[in-house]
Formats: sequence, structure tokens, C-alpha cells
Amino acid sequence: MGPKALGVQGINQEVDLSILSKKQVALVVKREDLIHPFISGNKYRKLKYNILEAKQRGLDTILTFGGAYSNHIAATAYAGKLYGIRTIGVIRGEELGQNWMHNPTLAKAHEHGMSFKFVSRTAYKEKADISFLDMLDKDFGPYYLIPEGGANLLAVKGCEEILTPDDKGFNVICCSVGTGGTLAGIVNSSLHYQRIIGFPSLKGDFLKKDIRNFTAKENWEINTDYHFGGYAKVSEMLIEFINYFKEKTNIPTDPIYTGKLLYGILDLVKNDYFKPGTKILAIHSGGLQGIAGMNLVLKKKNLPLIKV
Ligand SMILES: Cc1ncc(COP(=O)(O)O)c(C=O)c1O
Repeated sequence: MGPKALGVQGINQEVDLSILSKKQVALVVKREDLIHPFISGNKYRKLKYNILEAKQRGLDTILTFGGAYSNHIAATAYAGKLYGIRTIGVIRGEELGQNWMHNPTLAKAHEHGMSFKFVSRTAYKEKADISFLDMLDKDFGPYYLIPEGGANLLAVKGCEEILTPDDKGFNVICCSVGTGGTLAGIVNSSLHYQRIIGFPSLKGDFLKKDIRNFTAKENWEINTDYHFGGYAKVSEMLIEFINYFKEKTNIPTDPIYTGKLLYGILDLVKNDYFKPGTKILAIHSGGLQGIAGMNLVLKKKNLPLIKV
């Protein structure tokens, strides 16, 4: 996968909201979500060097892991289709084996050629064990393994390409955090005066150690106040924000990552966390494919839907 195949740089879009002018803070969103309809945002970054590596090793199968709404599963399936590589998704949740066709993410991934192996949540936790990987070897033959969320050194290398020399005017850069690979890549290519703030979608402070495996720099912090209860947890307030933000700025965000990120940034602006004159760059890391699945869940719960 290379620059010839896909557009590689997300455009920067300025956000115009009264709270920003009131606090004299500039907010610009890097629209990495627009890179590609299926391999969007950080997924393009994370897959790029991994696919090149699989090809170089002469492997024609990629095996990877994910949950029912995984952006990484969706992107890997499409990248496989694009580059003639067989893809296998090991999916958390045995029950989905009967129902995957009703899950928009998995149905699309299948349409794009991905085969699935559904495993129980207990087995999924052991997915890095040698015995589990041996079993997969027997089932599928030799494959190139990409970890859950696509987070490895090559993924971080890809994420180092998110920032460009044109971004040197920003003094704060904010991004969503799942595994922390994207944040680490951004930190690696940031300039010494730039502060990188990561907003995790998961509960817990366990990420810092993982991030330190991928970066030696210290100009970053994690803000754990905006996970909204944890991964894939949403509230009516978050949905209302996502719809409000889309209406005001024409920027769609997803309920798992980027909606929480933008909510968090604007809440911090409101609470004077940033000095007047701060120039913030928020990385839109994609994930919009997950909205369809989330809307099915919201509908069942009688909650308002995310407008697309
Ligand atoms: C849309 C989106 N944004 C952000 C992230 C978080 O990235 P990372 O796992 O590298 O922290 C993910 C998950 O990979 C994602 O799908």
C-alpha cells in the first residue's frame, strides 16, 4: 500500500464555534477520516507498513483480531481485497458466529473477503498464547499476524506520518487512544514545543506503560476524563454532542473514539484548560463505519440515533 494507491494526507479543517472565539483558542481538525471510505484514519496508517511487510515476507494471508464493531477488522478486510491478500478475522464473541450477517461491520468485512473465526471471550483473552496461535496455524496455514487494534512497531511507524511540516504551528495536538499506538506515532514525529494529549476510550490508566514501549519522548499526557464509562459505552449526552458537532461544523465523528475526543477538547476549552492563544490540532482518526452498528444498539435501547 503506498501513496499511489490512496490519498495520504488528511486535510486540516478549522472549527468555528463561539466557545473557541470566546476563549481565544483555535481548533483545527485533521480529517484523516477522509483518506479512504473503508481504510480511513489511523487504520490506513497502521496497515500501510504491515501490508508491505507481509508482501515482502511472501505471505498471502493476514490474520488479525477484533470485536464486533472493530474499525480495524473493517479496514483490514478492505485492504486485503485491494492488495490481493487473504484476510482472517478472529472475532471476540462466539455468539456472533450465528449472527454476524446482522452486524454491519462484520457483514461488510465479509463482503470484502474476510473469513472469520469466532472465539469465546475467555479464549480471546488468551489470543497471544503460543498454544492459541498454534491452533490458528493449523486452521489457516502460514499467516502474517497483526495484533488487536493493529498496534505494533510498523503501525506506529505509519502513524508517524500523520503530522506534516505544515502542522508546526500547533502547540497542542489531541488524539483518541485505544491501544496508544496512534498517540505514540504522533509523539514520535512531534516537535519539542508541541504537547500531545491522548483521550482514551477505555477506562483505566494502564496505557502509559504500553505507550512508553513505542516512544522515548515525554511531551505527552493522557486525559482519562472522557471515556464515558468505557469502550463502546455511550450516553445520550455524547450522542447529542456528536449530532450538534456535525450540524455546526459538518464534521461527523464516531461514538467510540472521535466523538469522545472532540467532546473532551471542547469541555477543556470551556473550563479554561488551554491558555488564550493556544492552537489545537485534533486528529480525526476515522471510525465512522461503526456508526451503523451503534445506531442498531441505540435503537434497541430507545435512545436518540447518530445522524449520518
Ligand atoms: C477510529 C479510531 N480512532 C482511534 C483509535 C485508537 O488508536 P490506537 O489503538 O492506536 O490508540 C482507534 C483504534 O484503533 C480507532 O479505530
